[in-house]
Amino acid sequence: MRTPIIAGNWKMNKTIEEGLDLVEAIKGHTLNEKVEVVLCVPFTDIKPIKESIEGTAIKLGAQNMHWEDAGAYTGEISPPMLKELGVDYVILGHSERRQYFNESDEDVNKKMKSAINHGIRPIICVGESLEEREGQREKEVVKAQIIKGFEGIDSKDIEKTVIAYEPIWAIGTGKTASAEDANDMIAFIRDTIGELYGDLKDKIRIQYGGSVKPNNISELMNQSDIDGALVGGASLNADDFVKLINY
Ligand code: PGA
Repeated sequence: MRTPIIAGNWKMNKTIEEGLDLVEAIKGHTLNEKVEVVLCVPFTDIKPIKESIEGTAIKLGAQNMHWEDAGAYTGEISPPMLKELGVDYVILGHSERRQYFNESDEDVNKKMKSAINHGIRPIICVGESLEEREGQREKEVVKAQIIKGFEGIDSKDIEKTVIAYEPIWAIGTGKTASAEDANDMIAFIRDTIGELYGDLKDKIRIQYGGSVKPNNISELMNQSDIDGALVGGASLNADDFVKLINY
């Protein structure tokens, strides 16, 4: 059995004060204990949010990191810096990073290896653009992202990684892939992991992301291969996020 994982991706939202208010509101609810809950917060929020979730089952994630431990990389944050703050997860290769900051599959792969080496669990994002889907190239694109992202990753580390399938056209647009289409792609991703790692494909958790809301979460979570959600907009509101966790 794969433990469902629902992760909030706050993106570039929430000052410390706003973030603490949100976490306080989430903590005021009873949360589904069968779900692993992760908050992926801006770097500046990590320390105070970590303190505020102390003693709860909520885990902490970052949204990006550099692959080097230290060096002349102005504006970047290293894995040891995140580790020191008690970060459990890091989102890698989010489409916004690929699109606006030119992150390549090679960068994502270096970050994957570095995260694993530092004991931080990667949530690696993959997904096709609208143009690629309309050209029926979505599987080819996603498969290439998986193969390049996982290059050189040891099979012993597969269980520690999470994949988020996020069709770019569904992110922040209010358009969701149908639960069946999302499941079909996620099953395809699982098969791709099977080609690389055999039976470990049944251990790796694969989330869906892209306009996940309280009104579509249960249908998504009822699918055979969808193990959770990576949530942007709906994770910024406590009531909505709690509804997702308690789907
Ligand atoms: P969304 O974002 O839920 O606002 O569509 C998802 C994501 O980008 O991870």
